[in-house]
Amino acid sequence: MIPANHSRPAFPTFPGFFVTGTDTEIGKTTISAALTRLLGQQGWRVVAIKPIAAGLECVEGQWVNDDVQRLRTASPLDVQDHEVGPLQLRHPCAPHIAAKLEGVVIDPQSLLSAIKRTAAKADFSVVEGVGGFCVPLHEPIAAALKAPHPSEQKADSDLETPPHLRGRWDSADLAVDLALPVVLVVGMRLGCINHAVLSAEAIRARGLKLVGWVANHVNPQMGHADDNFATLNQLLGAPCWGRVPFLSEPLPDPITPHLNLAAILKAISAPLPGLPQVPQVPTAATAPSPPPRNIVILISGSGSNMQAIAETAQTAQWAERHGIHIAAVISNRADAAGLQTARNRGLHTEVIPHTQFETRAEFDSALRDCIDRFAPELVVLAGFMRVLTAAFVQHFAGRLINIHPALLPAFPGLNTHQRAIDAGCQFTGATVHEVSVEVDQGRILAQAVVPVLPDDDAGRLAHRVLMAEHRLYPQAVLQKLIQPKNRSQTQLSQR
Ligand code: GRF
Repeated sequence: MIPANHSRPAFPTFPGFFVTGTDTEIGKTTISAALTRLLGQQGWRVVAIKPIAAGLECVEGQWVNDDVQRLRTASPLDVQDHEVGPLQLRHPCAPHIAAKLEGVVIDPQSLLSAIKRTAAKADFSVVEGVGGFCVPLHEPIAAALKAPHPSEQKADSDLETPPHLRGRWDSADLAVDLALPVVLVVGMRLGCINHAVLSAEAIRARGLKLVGWVANHVNPQMGHADDNFATLNQLLGAPCWGRVPFLSEPLPDPITPHLNLAAILKAISAPLPGLPQVPQVPTAATAPSPPPRNIVILISGSGSNMQAIAETAQTAQWAERHGIHIAAVISNRADAAGLQTARNRGLHTEVIPHTQFETRAEFDSALRDCIDRFAPELVVLAGFMRVLTAAFVQHFAGRLINIHPALLPAFPGLNTHQRAIDAGCQFTGATVHEVSVEVDQGRILAQAVVPVLPDDDAGRLAHRVLMAEHRLYPQAVLQKLIQPKNRSQTQLSQR
């Protein structure tokens, strides 16, 4: 590890992350855009910055960089292309080569100033590096090659000249000059373990904190993907912020359900040394208290989806920011393990045992009365293993949702994972839908895609789908409650 350089900031220059990757073309921009979108959805004034972008194309007479466009549109703020991408080079190649071809000298001070100007417009910035972690930003010059490499610096005199003046300024130095915590995107393919471990070592060797990592599946046929993922989880020594399946259209919205919001928020909430805490916007101090809105969650078993919703509600401050309260968790079984989980979280629980009722209609009527006492805006079925009567469904029409472990309309009903494997599906997933009288046929609200791997059995597949459910369901619940009514009506009329 190199000693702190007096010319380098000891503390983060602004609240944000630096996103790096195990290689180029492994989805760094995709994940940066999704992180930006996710934080924006949670109410943060977040901006994405790609300080150096190589490769422009001419669209309607304008030279544009696709990555910069994607990052700009992921941000909730009104920012311009040149603010997101202050240095855009025309040639799609290593930046120092593109710069040389275009007669451009990459000036660290100007670039850092531009980054800070854009970051100043936001509460939080997602700064995307270029290529992998250690990409040269200057053509190596003779004097620089004679100087000790940063990892070999020993004497203070070696540190007197900042790296950019020695011609050694690279993308890792850019991260160091911003002193931001680093997020590593791992392109999941053969060889990624070595690349990821080396990257993590290099990040730490530069004195930076590896705050999280994201597994991004870039090869749908990757062998032993689960084992590779598990190994990375053990070796990287940082929390996993998400496992994103291979997606043919890797846009932010289909990706955000695969990101681990709770882990990300935990990292954001941790105070950054030298900086005021990132504002948890909007807070009670800055916004009037929103009117209370209750949700009721129905479970029959382990209640892991209920737990995921409750955790996200707490971490993302649903009550403070949106007025959303989990008013009750209700089960038809007294022995449902999820009841204890709910109680441990301080949630109110009720049990209406279906066995105590002669008919389905009588049980549903008792359940309806119990739910009505909490005047919920949304009733969330989370592993509630009862077929509901038409009268019950109609009573809660438009405010009753369910999660189903398959990509509806494929595989309604039970035993979905084995059926997906038997049918030779390469992808399955989970669907959040409105509940209609016909089982598993209501309007689709959100889906998460999960690849079916060659060595999957129903159990392994079910586990991965359930992990995806835990990311998908909390976001779908929030979206259902906060999306503008006219948007949902439009979607409804298009179906
Ligand atoms: C999930 O797989 C969900 O899709 C289905 O029931 C299961 C519930 O799991 N409807 P849990 O009780 O939330 O752990």
